[in-house]
Amino acid sequence: MTPPSPTLRLIHLSDLHFGAQHAGASDILLGAIHDLNPGLTLITGDLTQRARNSQFIAARQFFDQLPANWVAIPGNHDMPLFRPWHRLFAPRDRYRRHIGSATTDRLDSPTLRLALLDSTDRLAWRAGRLSASTANRAAAWLADAAPAQLRVAAAHHPFASRQHDNKGGMAGARHARRALIDIGGADILLWGHLHRSEISRVGAPSGRHAIGIGVGSPTSSRHVNDGLFFHQLDMAGDHINLAVWRRLASEPAFVRVATHRFVRDDHGWREIRD
Ligand SMILES: [Fe+2]
Ligand SMILES: [Fe+2]
Repeated sequence: MTPPSPTLRLIHLSDLHFGAQHAGASDILLGAIHDLNPGLTLITGDLTQRARNSQFIAARQFFDQLPANWVAIPGNHDMPLFRPWHRLFAPRDRYRRHIGSATTDRLDSPTLRLALLDSTDRLAWRAGRLSASTANRAAAWLADAAPAQLRVAAAHHPFASRQHDNKGGMAGARHARRALIDIGGADILLWGHLHRSEISRVGAPSGRHAIGIGVGSPTSSRHVNDGLFFHQLDMAGDHINLAVWRRLASEPAFVRVATHRFVRDDHGWREIRD
């Protein structure tokens, strides 16, 4: 009998927006993450509201208090929109100075291969852009994963979304889906940016698909009425449990509001409904 695979607990955060947070929100979030004791925390961009030094410093202080490891990628708000010279010629300077030394575009563990993709673009500030070369490089690396490793790709902007709004679609998303799923064999695609928690099957031309998961903001003052969110992923071999945590402004703590269970069989991943 095959021994059960060790479980890796990953917390997925996005859109922390230091500089425009609901009062006390990051302290409440930090407490919730410590209670869950994850092995890894992933932050998919928009760490700050205006890419100010003070906001990056606050974000970094928050990350340094997280339990265990963390990795981050930038979002569009981490490039200075209202300082055109900086946005055009040095868009990621402050991100690199305060955050970059602690990030990587790849993370490898016995049970996980995680590709981090920078989808920010100084010209397509809001909608983002994923270049074909970035997607291809990540896909080739994912394709080379060991059988025991789950293949996960993460970006700030959505690889796919069931919802359409004025934030537009990420340029290069179609190519990225094809590369990451068909060539890379990605199991999970993660994103933020839309400030909305959503779970979907993301297909590629070959008929293969990945689990697509977008997460809302856990701290943004814009979303106190419709809920603040983060996700907990427990990953073990052919099983993934996704817990959706939500806090309303009137509540003192996050509450687990949904759990999605996925299993992998010969046809790929499917959700098990109780
Ligand atoms: Fe955001
Ligand atoms: Fe964003």
